Amino acid sequence: MTIILGIESSCDETGVGLVRLGPDGAVELLADEVASSVEQHARFGGVVPEVASRAHLEAMVPTMRRAFEVAGLRLSDVDAVAVTCGPGLAGALLVGVSAAKAYALSLGVPLYGVNHLAGHVAADTLEHGALPSPTLALLVSGGHSQLLRVDNLAGEITEIGSTIDDAAGEAYDKVARVIGLPYPGGPPIDKAAQRGNPAAIPFPRGLTGPRDAKYDFSFSGLKTSVARWVEARERDGEEVPVDDVAASFQEAVADVLTAKAVRAATDLGMSTLVISGGVAANSRLKQLAAERCAAAGITLRVPRPRLCTDNGAMIAALGAHLVAAGVKPSSLDLTTDPALPVSTISV
Ligand code: KG4
Ligand code: ZN
Repeated sequence: MTIILGIESSCDETGVGLVRLGPDGAVELLADEVASSVEQHARFGGVVPEVASRAHLEAMVPTMRRAFEVAGLRLSDVDAVAVTCGPGLAGALLVGVSAAKAYALSLGVPLYGVNHLAGHVAADTLEHGALPSPTLALLVSGGHSQLLRVDNLAGEITEIGSTIDDAAGEAYDKVARVIGLPYPGGPPIDKAAQRGNPAAIPFPRGLTGPRDAKYDFSFSGLKTSVARWVEARERDGEEVPVDDVAASFQEAVADVLTAKAVRAATDLGMSTLVISGGVAANSRLKQLAAERCAAAGITLRVPRPRLCTDNGAMIAALGAHLVAAGVKPSSLDLTTDPALPVSTISV
């Protein structure tokens, strides 16, 4: 039996997770504690790096204590430490990596510096077990929008496509601001959209022309189009139909994400699609993905929302897969890499 501690601090969530790796390679979730600084960023409409770093520093030890309490474990039970070393905000990553080094060194256990994006994919194994090989992953959050081919979570992930401008969650956050909804924009837009008409306004579907990159995304044009539409209404002194704008915007995002994911899975011969990241909590995205995957004969896996957003359990889970695969640990002079490519699963 092996206990792995996972630490996440790449953005505005301080996450500490504990998992147990069984002799059969199964990974069991024991604790998943998260402290978020999202409220401190709300009035700025986006994450402020310096504020996030300080919040990680303050939250790290209390979050760690809570995780051990929930799991009923002691520090001395830990057999390996995994930590996000990239991609993410430099100062924020540094807090987690420094903490992880201190724990690994003082406990005399191996340290694994791991990729945050691979962690998002690993989160699903905590809920639905091992991933078939290959699996297609659609990663959609505030910082990333990518299609990944996952051959082996511990060794081989290839980027198939990504956003050429804004991330999907970023578009939600920016559109929310335009229509007067709070930050982060995903949850309030999701809610408003339930009351609106998704066909009310024909917003553009980025990069879906015949000559466009098949598996890349673009949400900047959509965001601008929503802003122009709302401005025109306001200029004419007309009321903005917030629910219809939210529903029509959301439909455009869900349509493009699911169409491209299903097309990639079909073209490249992958029969399982995993969707993860904060935007995977979106009700319309899940509904449309389920419909389109069923029609194309693709198995859809979406972890519960708590595992989709940033957390330490996903990092512990990825650490467990690395330990199980016998991957070499990182050295204690591990550094952070804010631009770590997804193909580098561990450093
Ligand atoms: O994965 P995450 O917690 O953090 C990052 O790594 O960015 O994702 C946060 C993003 C935010 O942009 C937020 O607006 C979006 O996920 N989000 C949603 C929903 N819940 C959160 N977007 C659409 N629908 C939701 N229900
Ligand atoms: Zn993330």
